[in-house]
Amino acid sequence: MLNLTKGLIALQDLSKSDILSILAHAKNFKQGLRKNTLEGKVIASCFFEASTRTRLSFESAVAYLGGKTIGFADSSATSQTNKGESFVDTLRMLNCYADGFIMRHPNDGAARLASEIMSIPVINAGDGANQHPTQTLLDLFSIQDSQRQLEEIHLGLMGDLKYSRTVHSLIDASKLFNMRLYLIAPAPLRIASEDLIELKRHGISYSFHNSPEDVIDKLDCLYLTRLQKERFSGEIDCNYSINLELLAKAKPNLRILHPLPRLDELPAEIDNTPYAYYFEQARNGLFVRQALLDIIFGGYDDK
Ligand code: CP
Repeated sequence: MLNLTKGLIALQDLSKSDILSILAHAKNFKQGLRKNTLEGKVIASCFFEASTRTRLSFESAVAYLGGKTIGFADSSATSQTNKGESFVDTLRMLNCYADGFIMRHPNDGAARLASEIMSIPVINAGDGANQHPTQTLLDLFSIQDSQRQLEEIHLGLMGDLKYSRTVHSLIDASKLFNMRLYLIAPAPLRIASEDLIELKRHGISYSFHNSPEDVIDKLDCLYLTRLQKERFSGEIDCNYSINLELLAKAKPNLRILHPLPRLDELPAEIDNTPYAYYFEQARNGLFVRQALLDIIFGGYDDK
C-alpha cells in the first residue's frame, strides 16, 4: 500500500508500484480532478537555491488543493544567512510553523537531514547534484503520456550526465522500467561512475555516444540537459546541441524532453516541431505535484 506520510526524499524510496500509482493519480489531475485535501493546512516552501518551475508548480499545486504556503524563494533574508543561525535550527523552526515542508537546497543530502530532524512530511525539491525525485516523477509521467507506455523505452540522455541531478534520478528510474539507455555526452560530462556501476548491477542495456546523430533514429525520447555550471568550479570546455537537421532522421514518435531551463543545447527552432514536448513536460509538473501532495496528506485511497 502506498504510504508517503513521511514525504519523499529520493526516488529509491518508492517501489515501482508506488511510482505507477502516483503517475495514475497525476493523470486524474491532468484530466481535471479538483480536491481540497490541503484545506486548513500550511505548507512551508523554502528554496535555498533558485527555481522557477519546481517552486511555482508546487505552490500552485498547494493552492489548487486548498492549502496555503509560507516560505521563501531566496534565503538571503533569513536569520541563517544574516545572523549565523544553523541550518538544523532553521529546520526546527519551520517544523513549528507548517504541516509540510518542501525544500530545495544546494547541498547533497540536505533533504534527508531535514527528514531526520522534522516530524512533518518533507519533500525534496532538489538537493545539490544528488536527487530531484519529483522531477523524475514528472519525467516518467511525460514519457508515459507521450509514448503511451513506460516499459522498454529507448531513451537518449544527452548533455551534462555527470552533474545533473535529474539525470541521476532518471537513471534510477530506468532500472525499474527496463529502458534501453543511449548516453550522449562530451567526455568531461559522461555519467558518474556510481551511476555506471548501478546500471551494470541492474543489467540495464546502455551505450556511450559522442553525438546524437549516431542514435537519433533509434530513440523514443531524447532527454536533454544543460551544462550545470553551478555544480562545479572552473570551466568545462564543451559544446553540444540539437538542430532541425538532426530531427529529419528521427522516428515519428520521438519526443524531446528537457527539465528546463535550457541554454544553447535546445534552440528555439525546435519549439514548433511535433517532437517538442518540454513545455508540456513542465506543465505536467503541476499534476504530478498535486497527486503527490494529495497522497502525502491522506486524500488518496489505493485500496
Ligand atoms: N526543472 C527544474 O527543476 O526547474 P527549476 O530549477 O526552474 O525549478
